[in-house]
Amino acid sequence: MKRSLSGIQPSGILHLGNYFGAMKQFIDTQNSGEYDGFYFIADYHSLTSLTDPKALKDNTYNIVLDYLALGLDPKKSTIFLQSDVPEHTELSWLLSNVTPVGLLERGHSYKDKIAKGISPNTGLLTYPVLMAADILMYDTDVVPVGKDQKQHLEFARDIAMKFNQQYNVDLFKLPEPLILDDSAIVPGTDGQKMSKSYGNTINMFASKKELKKQVMSIVTDSTPLEDPKDPNNNVAKLYALFASIEKQNEMKEKFLAGNYGYGHAKTEVLNAILEYFGEARERREELAKDTDYINEVLYEGGKKARAIAQEKIMKAKEAVGIIGNL
Ligand code: TYM
Repeated sequence: MKRSLSGIQPSGILHLGNYFGAMKQFIDTQNSGEYDGFYFIADYHSLTSLTDPKALKDNTYNIVLDYLALGLDPKKSTIFLQSDVPEHTELSWLLSNVTPVGLLERGHSYKDKIAKGISPNTGLLTYPVLMAADILMYDTDVVPVGKDQKQHLEFARDIAMKFNQQYNVDLFKLPEPLILDDSAIVPGTDGQKMSKSYGNTINMFASKKELKKQVMSIVTDSTPLEDPKDPNNNVAKLYALFASIEKQNEMKEKFLAGNYGYGHAKTEVLNAILEYFGEARERREELAKDTDYINEVLYEGGKKARAIAQEKIMKAKEAVGIIGNL
């Protein structure tokens, strides 16, 4: 069976971009029965940008709830916290010694942050090395992610090749990204890529009131109600995530015909979101009451992941000549 692995940073509340870009693929690959899935919460990664301990704890717990509510099943997939498998950071160190600084300095995400004026810490620069460790640890075949992670996957492949070559071993498998064309870049309420840092997110588990506010904030132009409108406007683009082709076409025709306002279309989007995530929203409320269950899922997942990681790190240490004495 092929192995699928991916992670999400607990740097905020999950949004439609995380869902359609990544999580939906986690669940679809799980339910296809063709993959052995490993899905974790990249809590160490989030330290590169999040400095509020309470927020980190809350976000972490919330993402586990999201994973489970949306359909990740701990009987089928291994769900765990990155920090519960300290071998990830250990492997990251080994890999950092075959990773040129120049490679990391070319990172899009790193460069974007610098361009925004963020003074980078070392974690931000070496972020892709830890990500490579996450992936290479488990002989991963595919990594379901959004397009913004494509370069990080290329780095993971480069680092794996470099290590195998340098130490003349065949220890690390080269992973393939799994990026869907339709949802590679999910747009936000302003048409740019949906991202917490742009403040343009729609959070599927927000309260109905908040969700309505987010949907109503979708940016539109000022074409008068009675006039025809661009059928590929921001509202229609977001509707496309949920609606069947027929429904999408219906909306496009209404826009082209005129006498169809953005407000109406936004209400259709809101209803589509509530319908699409209705069951998951209910399930999440139930799950939130059962902290013991959540802890048990993480405990079991962490144990299973760690057993694999411990074997791999032994081999990696052996390859580089670290003896270890315990
Ligand atoms: P993160 O936490 O930023 O995002 C989680 C996933 O959501 C996807 N995503 C999007 N996809 C499409 N459109 C969008 N607007 C959008 N916004 C977010 C991201 O592409 C990602 O797949 N580096 C990773 C976390 C990570 C990881 C890993 C992933 C750490 N180790 C190992 C895979 C394998 C990240 O920052 O994702």
